[in-house]
Amino acid sequence: MNRRLEGTVALVTGASSGIGHATALELAREGASVALVGRREDRLTDLAAEISGAGGKALVVPADITTAQAAAEAVERTVEGLGRLDTLVNNAGLMLLGPAPSADLNDWRRMIDINLMGLMYTAHAAVPHLVKAAAEEPRQVADIVNIGSLAGRNAYAMSAVYSATKFGVGAFSEALRQELARQHVRVSVIEPGSVDTELRTHNPDVIQQHIVAALGDIERLQSQDIADTVGYIVTRPRHVAVAELLVRPTEQA
Ligand SMILES: NC(=O)c1ccc[n+]([C@@H]2O[C@H](COP(=O)([O-])OP(=O)(O)OC[C@H]3O[C@@H](n4cnc5c(N)ncnc54)[C@H](OP(=O)(O)O)[C@@H]3O)[C@@H](O)[C@H]2O)c1
Repeated sequence: MNRRLEGTVALVTGASSGIGHATALELAREGASVALVGRREDRLTDLAAEISGAGGKALVVPADITTAQAAAEAVERTVEGLGRLDTLVNNAGLMLLGPAPSADLNDWRRMIDINLMGLMYTAHAAVPHLVKAAAEEPRQVADIVNIGSLAGRNAYAMSAVYSATKFGVGAFSEALRQELARQHVRVSVIEPGSVDTELRTHNPDVIQQHIVAALGDIERLQSQDIADTVGYIVTRPRHVAVAELLVRPTEQA
């Protein structure tokens, strides 16, 4: 490992499981100090111990980032605790599927609150620190990596509002990319296909069975595959911005 992020600071939302957990480990392996954000403090504490046991540095930041205040506090705690902010990975998310006409509207609100509002609030709070890092720190570049979805490229039945949030992530990312380009804050969106994580387990059994049946018997992505993608994006040279990457399991049609 080249430790290409030595001396830098990253904040990963949703670090308590799945893609965020693997990404925090990946960035720590590259030498970044990592702030671990999520609601399940016990999981974050275990992950921080794993990172420090391997010689890295991690800060546990328990937070529900669905309010602007909580998202801003998570960013401020990161900068206070680790000194600066070079990389934001906006990964926290929720996928509740089912037919739109009979949906529990509370489920829609929960997805919008974390997949869109949480991501945008955290980006808003982080931007001044990222601009500062890009201007003042040796790498002269900083990154926001937003985790969208294949469902943010294609809308699917049963996925109306999840898709709406992920289409929104794509739109927000592209507009922000244009706004920050000249300040060398790169904004990227990764759109994973199906990844083997806890994500679908928040749905009732009947919906989970539908998801499994719709996907068929394929080899899914692992969280590390997306962590590798994040690592690739944030270690490009300063003049290279990877704006968007769609990553599918090979067998996913
Ligand atoms: N798995 C897939 O097939 C797939 C495909 C495309 C895109 N994605 C996207 O990848 C991202 C990560 O999902 P995953 O697959 O790794 O699923 P996951 O294991 O369920 O991870 C979701 C993470 O989001 C965090 N989170 C949820 N609500 C939160 C809140 N209010 N405040 C702070 N953190 C919150 C969770 O932590 P706490 O519960 O501890 O708060 C958890 O760490 C999501 O944005 C998802 O939409 C996943």
